[in-house]
Amino acid sequence: MRKRVLAGNWKMYKTAAETSAFLEAFAPLVANASHAEIVICPPYVNLPAAVEAARGTAIEIGGQDLFWLREGAYTGEVSAPMLAAVGCRWVIVGHSERRQYFHETDETVLKKTRAALEAGLTPIVCVGERLEEREAGATESVLRIQCAGGIAGLTPEQFARIVIAYEPVWAIGTGKTATPEMAAHAHGVLRAEMASCFGAAAADSCRILYGGSVKPDNVKGLMEQEEIDGALVGGASLDPQSFAAIVTY
Ligand code: PGA
Repeated sequence: MRKRVLAGNWKMYKTAAETSAFLEAFAPLVANASHAEIVICPPYVNLPAAVEAARGTAIEIGGQDLFWLREGAYTGEVSAPMLAAVGCRWVIVGHSERRQYFHETDETVLKKTRAALEAGLTPIVCVGERLEEREAGATESVLRIQCAGGIAGLTPEQFARIVIAYEPVWAIGTGKTATPEMAAHAHGVLRAEMASCFGAAAADSCRILYGGSVKPDNVKGLMEQEEIDGALVGGASLDPQSFAAIVTY
């Protein structure tokens, strides 16, 4: 049985004060939601405020990115042990915005995923095709290439500890959600690819989240798909009522 994960990716939104206020309002709304792991990923500077405000609740906190080395002369970067030390349990790796604007590649995704695992964090490794790739009928090959470069290089022990997020780039922040069937099909492709790398049992245990314009009114249909193990939510995770409605769908 794969426990669901409902994760909020706050991107570059909210101050520390707004982070604390969100959690104060949100925590009581999801206090009885034991069916899923609940994760919130604020910007780096607000992680301490988030960890503090989530203390005593089941809500866990994650980073949105990390650098793959432990420490060194890398101005502006933050390492996995630093995220763990501040109280993070999770970290998003290879989000499409990182790939698009900050030159992330499958190779850096693999390095970051390994670094996250080494520090005891659960990486949410993001994959997904762009619109032109889908229109060209290349969705499946894009997913296979991203898996081959970013995930297949893990050891079986490492693979057992990651979560994958399928986020079609054309659905992120656009209001265009993949239909539950489209998402489930892509998840099936990913799971089959993982089965060929790590075996059917390992692939079957791996949680694959859907991300891309998940909202309170479409989450249920997505979660009804056997293949979909949760959601990575951007815009709709910024409001306590809206994210609570998604968590408790
Ligand atoms: P969205 O973002 O829910 O605003 O589409 C999802 C994501 O980027 O993780």
